[in-house]
Amino acid sequence: MKDAGYSIAVFPGDGTGREVVREGLKVLGALAEGGPAPWHPTEYAGGGEYYLAHGREWEPEGAAAARSADAVLLGAVGWPGATLPNGDLAGRALVLGLREGLDLYANVRPCKLYPGVLHRISGEFREVWAPKNVDLVIVRENTEGLYTPARGRLRRGGDTEVAIDTRVITRKGSERIARFAFELARKRPAGAPEDGRRRVTCVDKSNVLEGCRFFRETFDRVGAEYPEIERDYAYVDAFTQWIVRNPEHYSVVVAPNMMGDIITDLAAVLQGGMGFAAGGNVGAEHAMFEPVHGSAPKHAGQNRVNPFATFFAVEQMLRWLGGRHGDAGLVAQADRLERAVANVLARGTARTYDQGGTATTSDAGDRVAEAIRSGGR
Ligand code: IPM
Ligand code: MN
Repeated sequence: MKDAGYSIAVFPGDGTGREVVREGLKVLGALAEGGPAPWHPTEYAGGGEYYLAHGREWEPEGAAAARSADAVLLGAVGWPGATLPNGDLAGRALVLGLREGLDLYANVRPCKLYPGVLHRISGEFREVWAPKNVDLVIVRENTEGLYTPARGRLRRGGDTEVAIDTRVITRKGSERIARFAFELARKRPAGAPEDGRRRVTCVDKSNVLEGCRFFRETFDRVGAEYPEIERDYAYVDAFTQWIVRNPEHYSVVVAPNMMGDIITDLAAVLQGGMGFAAGGNVGAEHAMFEPVHGSAPKHAGQNRVNPFATFFAVEQMLRWLGGRHGDAGLVAQADRLERAVANVLARGTARTYDQGGTATTSDAGDRVAEAIRSGGR
C-alpha cells in the first residue's frame, strides 16, 4: 500500500484511443468517489497525430513518466500518413518502444465472454457460445521473436532487393514467459471450463521452426516444475480452428510474439470482438495496460466506439498494482469494477455499434460509472 497513492501515466494516443481513455478515466473517477483517490492519473500527449504536429513521437515528460510511474495506461496509436523516416509506425515508441524499453516481457490477454455480450461472425448479432465456455488467458511473449528489431532492406530497388526480419528466440525469453504462464495457471484454480483442469497450452510451429522447437523444449523443462498443471500442445495453424470450435478446452495459452499477436485477435471474436479485448504488458518492474484494438481513424471523433476493452484494461491494471504492492483495497476496487461492467453487459444497456446497438462511447462510460456508484464500495 502506497500512502501517497499510485501514479498512473496515461497516454490516450491517437483517434479513438483518446475517446476510450476518457471513459476509462471516468470509471476510475467513479471508483475513487467518497474518499481520497488511491491513484493519480496524469495524461501525456503522443502518437502519430502528435508526430505530424511536433516532429517527435511524444512529449519528453511522457517518456520519463512512463518509466517512473507505478503503471501506464495506453489508448491506441497509429494515424494515416504518420510514418517515421525509416518507415515505422509513428507512435511505436508508446507501444513497441515501451514493451522493449521497460522489458514488459509478458503480454497478458484475457479472453472471457460475459453474459449479454453478442457476436457477429456473419449475419445477425446473436449469442453463439455459452458464456461459461470462454474463459482463457493468452500469454504472448512480448520482447523478442519476429518483433526483434534486427531487420532491414538490402539492395533497394530492382529485382534483387531483399527484406529481412530476424526471429530471435532466447533461452531467457522463453523461460520467463513459460514460467509466467505456469504461475498464472496456479492462480486460476477453476482451470479450463471443459473439465476444470489446470492446463497450459503451448502454441507454436515446432514441426517446422527451430525457434519454436526451442520454445517448446523450454516450455516442457519449466513445466516439469509444475506437476499439478497439465501440459498441452498445439501447432498454431491447428490451434486457430480448435480455439473457435472448442474454446472451453483452454485456460492458459502461451505463444511466441507474432503468433500471440495473431491468435489474440482471433480469440477476441470469442469474447464479442476487439471492443472487449484488453492486454496487460507486464515486466518485473513495470507494466502497461491497453485495449488491444487500434486507433480506428475512420470512427474517430464520433463518440461511437466500444470502450469496454479499456474498462478491462483498467481492471487488469488495478489487479496488477494491488498484487504488486500487497494492496487488498486495490484488488477490491478491481473486483468492484468487474462487477459493475458485468452488470451493465448483462443488462445490455450499453451496446455500441459493434454490438448492433446505438449506445455511444460516453453512454457506456456513464452506465458503468452509475453501476459502480449503485454497487457500493
Ligand atoms: C497489438 C498491436 C501491436 C502489435 C501494433 C500496434 C504494433 O497489434 O498490440 O497487438 O503488433 O503488437
Ligand atoms: Mn495485434
